[in-house]
Amino acid sequence: MCGIIGITGQTDVREALLEGLERLEYRGYDSAGIGLWHKEALWRTRSIGRIQALRDCIAQKAQANDSVASNAGIGQTRWATHGNVTLENAHPHGTQNVLVVQNGIVENMEALRKRFESEGAAFESETDAELFSYALERALAQAAQTKPVLQEHLPALVANTLKDFEGSFAVLFLVRGFEDTLIAFRQGHNPLAVGYKDGVCAAGSDAISLGNLVEQIAYLDDQELALLSADGITLWHKGQQKQPAYSKQHPMDNVLCRGDHPHFMHKEIWEQPKVVHALLDHYTHHIHRLDLPKVPFKWSDLSLLRLTACGTASYAAMLGATFFEMWAHLPTLMDVASEFPLKVPSFPKGGAVGFISQSGETADTLAALGHAKKHHQHTFSLLNTTDSAMGRLSDTIFPLCAGHEMSVASTKAFVAQLLVLMFIALEAAKERKTLSDKQRGDIIDALEQLPDALAQTLALSHMFQQKAQTLVGAKSMLYLGRGPFFAMALEGALKMKEITYIHAEGYAAGEIKHGPMALVEEGLPVLILAPSGPFFLKTLANIQEVMARGANALILTDETGFTALNALQKKHALVLPDVPEVLSVFTQTVALQLLAYDVAAALGHDVDRPRNLAKSVTVV
Ligand code: M6R
Repeated sequence: MCGIIGITGQTDVREALLEGLERLEYRGYDSAGIGLWHKEALWRTRSIGRIQALRDCIAQKAQANDSVASNAGIGQTRWATHGNVTLENAHPHGTQNVLVVQNGIVENMEALRKRFESEGAAFESETDAELFSYALERALAQAAQTKPVLQEHLPALVANTLKDFEGSFAVLFLVRGFEDTLIAFRQGHNPLAVGYKDGVCAAGSDAISLGNLVEQIAYLDDQELALLSADGITLWHKGQQKQPAYSKQHPMDNVLCRGDHPHFMHKEIWEQPKVVHALLDHYTHHIHRLDLPKVPFKWSDLSLLRLTACGTASYAAMLGATFFEMWAHLPTLMDVASEFPLKVPSFPKGGAVGFISQSGETADTLAALGHAKKHHQHTFSLLNTTDSAMGRLSDTIFPLCAGHEMSVASTKAFVAQLLVLMFIALEAAKERKTLSDKQRGDIIDALEQLPDALAQTLALSHMFQQKAQTLVGAKSMLYLGRGPFFAMALEGALKMKEITYIHAEGYAAGEIKHGPMALVEEGLPVLILAPSGPFFLKTLANIQEVMARGANALILTDETGFTALNALQKKHALVLPDVPEVLSVFTQTVALQLLAYDVAAALGHDVDRPRNLAKSVTVV
């Protein structure tokens, strides 16, 4: 979703801003812009589409002798919410003396807009961001009537002005007359980081946006305001100055660089054995022993567990629910986060809700977390970004240790979510005495083989590349699976549709004859998750049913499963290595990821930034 960046202390800030915006590209956007004050005059360039288009506009202006040099500037990548994707709606927005970029939503936008219009304001865009510049412009004018406005007056002036704005947002201002000074403010859950190094101070939507520009970094809290200038960074919370809690910025080179990989998604798929290694290191100690963060309740006291998340993370939750039920005999419900607060679920006293999120900023999941807390539920979260809004709210955090995920399509975070959910379910089983030490030990032993199993699956990548070529003309696909492989079918279909734009639906294989079979016609690609094991025979029957109706079956099985297929079915098989039963959800995951990736790459799509999607979905 939208990303913002502001920098002060650079000789010509424009290139640094553009690089900052490029680091924000992964979040998803449809227009971009940068702006600054040059000799007290507004300079701003905005464009629709990619940052390269913005660079081209700036280069054209330079050819037309538009030379500017300024130490400070702000920029934004916009993912349209209020108003269409137009140049007028692209940020920054400005008035005579104020330039602003924003991330988030002003909830009382309509009321404020009407109020400001009744005062004579005329807006050129449909955005909520423009309201900020108008309001601060007005406040500056009012303040100037009694005494000259000095830099030291800005924090109180901005904080007072923003009291009228409801919702969750992060904003950056540049005020004419204070050209080198950047004002940053956060309200609600939209993250805003500030940092510094060698006379440069910067603020941005996340640590990645600040890249190697800063060495020390701190996140603003709700209602915090920062002033960034040549004198450094000063921080205020409700009128009181406070000390930012800095930590060291991680070097970003490895995060921002794809290396030899054609896309970040490719890099992230191939990083999975390493991620699993890191997780095993983090959570397992000595033979057969898990070392997990403590939750503030007893697993044995629970009669029901709820898990909630969005998108891919919700399919991890759905799979997680099967492990809690199977191993810990704990009834577990998965709620899609956007529905959770609407369902008015009956919360048991002392109940627990688990949240799963790569970003830790997903607005729907965050709202669900707030809802659970309001109902006095214990909360725990599985997060890849532990220093996030969800991290701050949760009673217990289980880190996913997957490293930054840049591609919009979630891959390595999903594998990490599955594995950590398994660890937690095993812990619950221990406390509830539903698995013996030997049974738990055997499962942990099997999980230790996961990095190898993933590496062996990745070694088959050529097989998926070949199969992908046969799918580039497909308009629609079905994914079928049973038991845990039903959730996998949903995840496989999501991965396929989000990056290839091929319509793909996942079904419980047993459901096919209750409706979806009507879709099956000659040549329809139907991917069936059919590893050997308890679900194999029934799934085989579904394979026969769809093939009998002309489907182009893609049978995702393993070496043992392959031997049970007939000669025709064998021609349609994609054969994965035999692995212990508990690992087959992981090897199948990698296969589904590779297949979707290869189809998208063969179609020539922008794999890492699929149309209309954003990496962190920070609006509900
Ligand atoms: O950051 P989160 O894990 O909370 O994000 C949840 C979903 O938005 C995310 O998984 C989305 O479905 C991905 N694009 C799927 O690949």
